[in-house]
Amino acid sequence: MRHTSLTVGLWTVLAAVALTAAPTTAQAPAQVSGCDVCHSKPDAKRVLPSGRVQSLFIDRDDLQHSVHRGKACVDCHTDVIEIPHTRTPETVNCTRCHFEGNTAGAPQGRIYAEYEASVHGRALAAGDERAPACQDCHGNHSIAPHAAATSPVARENIAAGCATCHLQIYTEFRTSVHGVALDSGNVDVPTCTDCHSEHGIRRHDDPRSPTYAGNVAATCATCHAAEAIIGKYGISGEQVAAYEESFHGVASRFGMRTVANCSSCHGVHDIRSHLDPASRVYVDNIPATCGECHADANANYAIGTIHVRPQDPVSGIVYWVSAFFKWLTISTICVLVIHIGLDLSRQIRDRRRHRRPHLQQKDSTP
Ligand code: HEC
Ligand code: HEC
Ligand code: HEC
Ligand code: HEC
Ligand code: HEC
Ligand code: HEC
Ligand code: HEC
Ligand code: HEC
Ligand code: HEC
Repeated sequence: MRHTSLTVGLWTVLAAVALTAAPTTAQAPAQVSGCDVCHSKPDAKRVLPSGRVQSLFIDRDDLQHSVHRGKACVDCHTDVIEIPHTRTPETVNCTRCHFEGNTAGAPQGRIYAEYEASVHGRALAAGDERAPACQDCHGNHSIAPHAAATSPVARENIAAGCATCHLQIYTEFRTSVHGVALDSGNVDVPTCTDCHSEHGIRRHDDPRSPTYAGNVAATCATCHAAEAIIGKYGISGEQVAAYEESFHGVASRFGMRTVANCSSCHGVHDIRSHLDPASRVYVDNIPATCGECHADANANYAIGTIHVRPQDPVSGIVYWVSAFFKWLTISTICVLVIHIGLDLSRQIRDRRRHRRPHLQQKDSTP
């Protein structure tokens, strides 16, 4: 794919300079100056077979300000073993250094193994060139620490990075309640990787995926069951518990995959407040949403609240019935306790009364 068609005749001259100026050993320091002869020229470029012009200019400053400062060109471009290189260098393999147990000083962890087992890693290994390698998410020469604002994988930039390939979903997500808040700098809402994970992304029909139907409730619950996060926005953390206690929630826990999970009702990348007419759970849209599974769904489905816990007064009749039985039980226990107490004290009094004459008898015997 990566064929050459040089645009500048100057390159031949540069090649000659390189040949004489740069040693051809594979040792790093010598190679470094060798690369610069050609690749430090701002107008170095070539035309790809697609017609696109690719810049071949490498700004050494980029590398020096990156996490890989001090690394030689050939630490990554290991297949450039002579100058000028006659073969087009291969794609860089980052896992040369980035693997668990490496001695190169690269961060350790399970993320590399996770990536290999992920939908992306497997697709790439199977030859799917559209799937992202490390550098497609992290960048090439100017890789910054992952939390730095300039990093493409910094929290605020992640969604845009995924968008280079998943544009349709990104467009949908940006107008959702989560996406709008994320764009405004809110750090409590999820970005793509909070629901999908970073390196270990799996297909949604894989039971190990956090987006698998049976795991969606737990994924939403990381925030929606945490009052400390969700309470700040005036949203109740009870929605999750109410779902867990509902027919859908119980059936899902028992492995029924056709019942509704959070996303079946609220949507996935297009989640909105239920007061937003575009929401799948806006009152007028409820019959259609429930109707996706309940053929008989009609306007009655929209009457009353969906997330009800018997403990909550908004649940109306359910609350009163539950409250009635709660107080009935409590008062029955109270009456029982009082009854036992009274009975006991009467028995004690009776016994005392019977013992006194007996004592007197004892006293009078001698
Ligand atoms: C004599 C000039 C010259 C020198 C010196 C030189 N290159 Fe290149 N390099 C080129 C040219 C011309 C191309 C584009 C043609 C090609 O793909 O081979 C290129 C392309 C590349 C590419 C792009 C591959 C791709 O397909 O995107 C990489 C990577 C590269 N060089 C790395 C290096 C490294 C590392 C060094 C130093 C060890 C180096 N080059 C030294 C001329 C040079
Ligand atoms: C941390 C690893 C790393 C180091 C160090 C590194 N490169 Fe690269 N380089 C990459 C990656 C990744 C790409 C993107 C293409 C690929 O995936 O192979 C790339 C691409 C290139 C290209 C193709 C043009 C482009 O920008 O896509 C050239 C030319 C190049 N590198 C030259 C150099 C030179 C010269 C040096 C030393 C000054 C250097 N590289 C150091 C990782 C590195
Ligand atoms: C689909 C995009 C994507 C791919 C592919 C990817 N990463 Fe990441 N990576 C991320 C994101 C997002 C983060 C930020 C995680 C965070 O902020 O906690 C990250 C964080 C990191 C970190 C720093 C955090 C840590 O735990 O050490 C390293 C190192 C890293 N990635 C290396 C790699 C390597 C090596 C590969 C290839 C094997 C790779 N990544 C593939 C998206 C990706
Ligand atoms: C020659 C070995 C080597 C290669 C090849 C290499 N790295 Fe690194 N990488 C390191 C080392 C060492 C560090 C730690 C630097 C430090 O902590 O100062 C590092 C750090 C990082 C970090 C920062 C981790 C963080 O905490 O945010 C990321 C991201 C990263 N590398 C991604 C990549 C990607 C992507 C590639 C492939 C284009 C790559 N690396 C290729 C050695 C390498
Ligand atoms: C609130 C959690 C959440 C967020 C945030 C999220 N997703 Fe998803 N995503 C899911 C769930 C759940 C599914 C599974 C839907 C299904 O079963 O049909 C899914 C499915 C997918 C799929 C596969 C199904 C398809 O429609 O192609 C892709 C690709 C995807 N998401 C990418 C993204 C990207 C990119 C972002 C960020 C722009 C993102 N997701 C943000 C929860 C989320
Ligand atoms: C360079 C392009 C590229 C980038 C960047 C990328 N992906 Fe993907 N992604 C793919 C391709 C291609 C597939 C399909 C692999 C397959 O199905 O074999 C895929 C598959 C997926 C799937 C599984 C789809 C399903 O059917 O369930 C999810 C989820 C996903 N990507 C999420 C993300 C997220 C989140 C990010 C950002 C952190 C991201 N992707 C970044 C290309 C990319
Ligand atoms: C990383 C934390 C996080 C995750 C994961 C998450 N949410 Fe949210 N969600 C929030 C926050 C924070 C808000 C409030 C945003 C605001 O009001 O600006 C919110 C808002 C909402 C709202 C709108 C509430 C309203 O009244 O405006 C709904 C509905 C919602 N989320 C459903 C879900 C569903 C369904 C899932 C799982 C598929 C999910 N969320 C996953 C944090 C999260
Ligand atoms: C993803 C599919 C799906 C969606 C969407 C869905 N349900 Fe269900 N629901 C089921 C399944 C499957 C059952 C199991 C029993 C059955 O088939 O009726 C069930 C059972 C129920 C039950 C208890 C049993 C019964 O039939 O009375 C109620 C009540 C219920 N759903 C209400 C709703 C309401 C209200 C909505 C919309 C807000 C809704 N459901 C949306 C799949 C779904
Ligand atoms: C059967 C459909 C259905 C399921 C399943 C469902 N919800 Fe809801 N949800 C609704 C409806 C309808 C509303 C509107 C208010 C109401 O009726 O309770 C709502 C309201 C909410 C709200 C209140 C804020 C708002 O404006 O929308 C949040 C947050 C929420 N749901 C989160 C979740 C989470 C998290 C799950 C999974 C654990 C879940 N829901 C499962 C239908 C559902």
